[in-house]
Amino acid sequence: MIETIIDSRIEAHIESTIQFTSLYIHIPFCKKKCNYCDFLSFDHEEDKIEAYINALVEEIRSYKTVLKKDIIKSIFIGGGTPSVLEPTYIDIIMKEIHKLFKIDKAAEITIECNPGSLSRQKVMTYKELGINRISLGLQTVNDERLQHLGRIHTFKEFVQNYNMLREVGYDNINVDLIFGLPNQTIEEWQVTIDQIITLNPEHISVYGLIIEEDTKYYKQFQQKLWTLPEEEEERDMYWYASQTLSEHGYNHYEISNYSKQDYSCKHNKVYWTLGNYIGMGLGAASYYENNRMDNIRNIQDYIAAQGNLDQVIANKYESSLKAQKEEFLFLGLRLFEGISKQIYYKKFNEKLEDLYGEVIDELLKQELLVEEGDRLRLTNRGMDISNYVLAHFIL
Ligand SMILES: C[S@@+](CC[C@H](N)C(=O)[O-])C[C@H]1O[C@@H](n2cnc3c(N)ncnc32)[C@H](O)[C@@H]1O
Ligand code: SF4
Repeated sequence: MIETIIDSRIEAHIESTIQFTSLYIHIPFCKKKCNYCDFLSFDHEEDKIEAYINALVEEIRSYKTVLKKDIIKSIFIGGGTPSVLEPTYIDIIMKEIHKLFKIDKAAEITIECNPGSLSRQKVMTYKELGINRISLGLQTVNDERLQHLGRIHTFKEFVQNYNMLREVGYDNINVDLIFGLPNQTIEEWQVTIDQIITLNPEHISVYGLIIEEDTKYYKQFQQKLWTLPEEEEERDMYWYASQTLSEHGYNHYEISNYSKQDYSCKHNKVYWTLGNYIGMGLGAASYYENNRMDNIRNIQDYIAAQGNLDQVIANKYESSLKAQKEEFLFLGLRLFEGISKQIYYKKFNEKLEDLYGEVIDELLKQELLVEEGDRLRLTNRGMDISNYVLAHFIL
């Protein structure tokens, strides 16, 4: 017993003297742009890959002094599609990170992959480099639908890659799915959920389709080439995923995310709990010691900057106290566990009720929020209409 108390005191002391930070590394290349996606990525800039990686490595080096006291608790190599790169580029990036920063032994290190751009050699390199989590974009198991989305792979190819990842020893795999697709029926969506469950990934992200401007889907939607499912049917899809995944041992731990016990995404949790993270690469965003930063989005300019942070960072501003309070609630309530009133008090030196008392009472009355001891969280109905509920916390 005494031992545990001493241990926890040591842990508390360590927590107060060191700082944990996460890294996001952006790879803005894809083999082919999907019809729905407006992420910052290009499918016609292969000739810039080498110069981009060189500039990225310079940017990583520029953070050596900034992060000298920090322990890196998660790394997320995202995109775009990092798996389109030759594995030697991932090797260069990871070795540089290991050389410059202190990485926590238990760090979660994720790479985003498209099933149409993987190979055994790539996957084995990722494993050797200590990348311990793979996130695969799938979206749907229906091949016609995959084609309509502009994806470059079939469901069969996805399964082959998934099995290869298991053979190489990956035991932490996420699969991305999207519902509410053009002309999609609930029955079609149910097949996707049911089939994914049989594969048993540790983590599943389930996104509702967003029609983004500057995408092929936006133009097609405007031209009325297809219709979206009615709102009620879209909600049924959300509920089918939520209920079926829960019945099969997945925790619905965040609005769009489900995981097996102990496999929630540590990296994304940092975003939702206002932890420190540095984004490196084109257009990457950072939140570090209450400062928000956004990198430039023009690839030529990014390459020319050669990691000079004065040129790479387009915006840097201190997050106001008002913004911090809003984000504490707005982001924290996305998590099923919700937020702690005590932590709010410790952080802002005022009671949560002082600022949000009326709003909280109203949402409790409407059964969109529930209070459990020190914690406040969304109810199932609150999760369903989370955009409406969370908007109440913008001051
Ligand atoms: C960077 S991609 C994943 C890795 C890889 N690029 C791929 O697509 O296979 C991130 C994920 O965002 C989701 N996504 C992108 N655009 C979306 C949109 N307009 N609506 C909903 N989800 C979207 C997709 O599920 C996609 O897999
Ligand atoms: S969904 Fe993935 S593969 Fe498709 S364009 Fe977006 S980032 Fe690229």
